[in-house]
Amino acid sequence: MILKLGGSVITKKFDYLETDDKNIEYLARAIGSVWDPKMELILIHGAGSFGHAPVLAHGLHSGIKTKKQVLGFADTHSSCSYLSNFIADRLIKSGVPAVVVSPVVVIRQINGRISKFDTSTVFELLKKGYLPVMHGDMVLDSKLGGSICSGDQISTYLGKKAKKIIFGTNVDGVMANGKLVEKITKNNFKDIEKHLKSSSAPDVTGGMAGKVKEIISSKKSAYIVNALKPKRIEDLLKGRTTICTEINVK
Ligand SMILES: Nc1ncnc2c1ncn2[C@@H]1O[C@H](COP(=O)(O)OP(=O)(O)OP(=O)(O)O)[C@@H](O)[C@H]1O
Ligand SMILES: [Mg+2]
Repeated sequence: MILKLGGSVITKKFDYLETDDKNIEYLARAIGSVWDPKMELILIHGAGSFGHAPVLAHGLHSGIKTKKQVLGFADTHSSCSYLSNFIADRLIKSGVPAVVVSPVVVIRQINGRISKFDTSTVFELLKKGYLPVMHGDMVLDSKLGGSICSGDQISTYLGKKAKKIIFGTNVDGVMANGKLVEKITKNNFKDIEKHLKSSSAPDVTGGMAGKVKEIISSKKSAYIVNALKPKRIEDLLKGRTTICTEINVK
């Protein structure tokens, strides 16, 4: 199973480099309460104010060319790593053996899309009963010098063989005309598409529109759920139904 926790939940996305300690604590406890190594769970988290904000501050979204951008790449990676270690630490305190696998070490991109991904450490950790943790990060890019690899892209890439992919974010799911869309299928996708927008917070990976695009292009089914309500995450991890959007366009 893949669980992606949005940067919109674990950080204060309108601020600069601010964790949301209360939400991290709730989620670490929720994961701890259902944790079983047999779940074979991989946790991915977004970067929130530790990624989107420094990318915007350093001007990194169209590539890494200048010395200033090289320093910005390093600074953004360092912030994202800090956030990831912070989350792993809280999970360990909840009894979950979380180990961060740093995306910059194992992923390469071409024009902002994953071209190589050495997944061996992630799957070996999984087999041995750990919870591998990955996150949105700056990675090397053979066309752009460096580019953003979103947690959403990592989730759908690693989710190719997953039984279930869950995207926890700060809304109940995909909204259209003020209402929750419970299911997106190939029949209603065209109608829903126009409602998919970027984030209301500073964001460089497309907000809800970017997330749904990643899911649709992976052709996997997935759930988008409110991670501000940890019980809903627990429900999905336990195979129960809950309030969310289910995407299935196969
Ligand atoms: N149709 C829609 N339904 C629901 N949310 C939408 C919609 N269109 C745009 N959004 C925005 O998308 C946001 C969620 O995307 P966002 O990228 O901010 O979250 P995240 O992926 O959880 O965080 P991060 O990218 O930091 O990991 C919502 O808070 C909302 O502002
Ligand atoms: Mg996002």
